[in-house]
Amino acid sequence: MTEVKETNYDLLQKQVASLIEDESNLIAILSNVSALLNDSLDQINWVGFYLIENNELILGPFQGHPACVHIAIGKGVCGTAVETNESQLVEDVNAFPGHIACDANSKSEIVVPIHKDNQIIGVLDIDAPITNRFSDTDKIALEEIVKVLEQQIA
Ligand code: SME
Repeated sequence: MTEVKETNYDLLQKQVASLIEDESNLIAILSNVSALLNDSLDQINWVGFYLIENNELILGPFQGHPACVHIAIGKGVCGTAVETNESQLVEDVNAFPGHIACDANSKSEIVVPIHKDNQIIGVLDIDAPITNRFSDTDKIALEEIVKVLEQQIA
């Protein structure tokens, strides 16, 4: 099994906070956060954001290969995260009914909902080229990082 280099999430959370403090432009914030996560997480092939617009998810700032632009609420891993308002940790995307394959290299995935004023406004989506890349530790830490983001865009 491929070794995954552990992320220092305490450090990463502080880096996210200092990277986005004093910034209010959503696109700038999400662009820099996607770049930082891409630099900091081992064994990932796509990291970025989808934002809700006109009741669907639209591709936002990301790092990785070009991806699908429109995702219906309730469809795929991202749309399921929005519909259920819960993070989705998918060990094997091929076993997830309705998974949307933007990049054939993606084997596992994690999606965390993002809120503003208690409403979901989008998701953080991270894909990995190996199955079972993300653990509960990753999920909890990424949810904390999204909370830092939410405080900045509140
Ligand atoms: N796999 C996602 C689609 C987005 S790409 O991974 C970038 C999904 O099933 O929602």
